Amino acid sequence: MKFFVDSADLDQIAQLNDVGLVDGVTTNPSIIAKSGRDFKEVIAEICALVEGPVSAEVTAIKADEMIAEGRLLRKIAPNVCVKLPLTMDGLTACNKLSAEEVPTNVTLCFSANQAILAAKCGASFISPFIGRLDDINIDGLELIEEIRTIYDNYGYETEILAASIRSVNHIKECAIIGADVITSPPDVIRKMADHPLTDKGLAAFLKDWEKTGQTIL
Ligand code: G3P
Repeated sequence: MKFFVDSADLDQIAQLNDVGLVDGVTTNPSIIAKSGRDFKEVIAEICALVEGPVSAEVTAIKADEMIAEGRLLRKIAPNVCVKLPLTMDGLTACNKLSAEEVPTNVTLCFSANQAILAAKCGASFISPFIGRLDDINIDGLELIEEIRTIYDNYGYETEILAASIRSVNHIKECAIIGADVITSPPDVIRKMADHPLTDKGLAAFLKDWEKTGQTIL
């Protein structure tokens, strides 16, 4: 399963990249606003930092303007992936940009029907939002299961990019279901390494080692 970092914080991305845990990055207008950075500048810096796809989202709402924005964003770096909202205009732009071999990430997906449309329009990635469905008492992971089943039924090549990740359980369940990618805030990825028994066991190892009076270096 590929790990994308859902952030525009270059330090956080770099730290996880150094561990080998970054296969790509996703951003959205809220993440960019939170960064306080110039949109195109920060996307260029992220693209220089990581090898994988970096999602940069259009902000137009009409297809022709989305296409123009997408073409411009694509010019920032070879690994820019154009993020488009799941609306009919976004799907139209996805179809056009995909035909021009521009990688696309169709976002704000909240139903299997929406995901079917994105696949038919040639989306490279579909971003179903787990956390925001959970927030309204709808099982977000169930959507991931539905999309996985449907995409496998028809051999759709669109990759399931599970988004709006709020917990390590979301990541584990996405891996069990078979999502192609998760995109997560950096801290949730870090939390995957935490376990009290690991801490306890390491402390015991080091305490016993100290008794030997030996050093390795
Ligand atoms: O960036 C897309 C998605 O991951 C946003 O997540 O936490 O704002 O619902 P969230």
